[in-house]
Amino acid sequence: MKQFDLRSDTITKPTQGMREAMYRAEVGDDVYREDPTVNRLEAMAAQLTGKERALFVTSGSMGNLIALYINCGRGNEVLAAQDAHIIQHEIGAPAAIAGVLPIGIAAPRGILSAQLLADKVKPQAYDLAATTMVEVENTIGGCCYPVENLIGIREFATVHGLKVHMDGARVFNAQIATGVSISEYASYADTITFCLSKGLGAPVGSLLCGNEAFYRQALKVRKMLGGGMRQSGILAAAGIYALEHHVNRLADDHLHAQEIARTINAAGWAEIDMDGVQTNIMFFSVEGMDGSTVVRQLEQVGVLANAEGDNVRLVTNLSLDDEDTRQLCRILAKFEPKKQ
Ligand SMILES: Cc1ncc(COP(=O)(O)O)c(C=O)c1O
Repeated sequence: MKQFDLRSDTITKPTQGMREAMYRAEVGDDVYREDPTVNRLEAMAAQLTGKERALFVTSGSMGNLIALYINCGRGNEVLAAQDAHIIQHEIGAPAAIAGVLPIGIAAPRGILSAQLLADKVKPQAYDLAATTMVEVENTIGGCCYPVENLIGIREFATVHGLKVHMDGARVFNAQIATGVSISEYASYADTITFCLSKGLGAPVGSLLCGNEAFYRQALKVRKMLGGGMRQSGILAAAGIYALEHHVNRLADDHLHAQEIARTINAAGWAEIDMDGVQTNIMFFSVEGMDGSTVVRQLEQVGVLANAEGDNVRLVTNLSLDDEDTRQLCRILAKFEPKKQ
């Protein structure tokens, strides 16, 4: 039975063209900053984000962790949406490694605003941790940050002397969905990470971007965390290929997500809020069933999904073309979840 893997957009495998680019990559020792392909990727990322410098890091988690480490400082607080990846899915690294206390804020669809931050900055007092950073995740749960919110957050942060870091693991999805450029999104943040190994389909890596002073420190913290890589041009070549060939095709993932969500809604066994299907991610629940039971039953018909509590998450990705999506929709239209 054919399997449709919608657990995440991280499951994709390098395409033939990407593998060939990796094979041909010129390499050098990147810890000595002598890998020409890594240097090229970093220059591309700096230009795309409009930041002075970019650093190739092993993962989105490492990029976020380095930003927290440098921007926040130990014993200080970061404000983030309570559903943010740095709070929920990075194994407590902000606290365990960067020494930062994350303050989770309830926010509609995980989207913060200056209003929501207003009473969260700690006053200066001998017994209080200082608030030093705001983290925004774009996209979050597949939803794009409205520019008005980012402008408000930037102004608020400047007034209160806070840094802003954008976890832009999927910021290219936001760019494709909204038409707002990566450099505009990045202009509201001091630092930004974006991932190559999600919708863009590369096997490894993220870029951490910021100004020259930040980059100098980031280089050291990356090495301290064990993230100094050597002939990593082989990996960077996949990233360059992804940036050159896989950005515009994210629009296909978004169309596929719409098609799948509409099919599920028409079938009637779950109800998906279409306003939340802005890019390649959708969530739904089936009344009276927990997410993992639904996921097990979907697997029996060849559809791989992830459960998050009562919710099921589907993420469209590079492994799914138009024909796959049509086949998948036929399966989902006939699917009948069975309460046990
Ligand atoms: C929003 C977001 N940020 C950061 C990460 C971390 O990326 P990585 O798995 O490369 O550490 C992920 C991973 O799924 C993510 O979804």
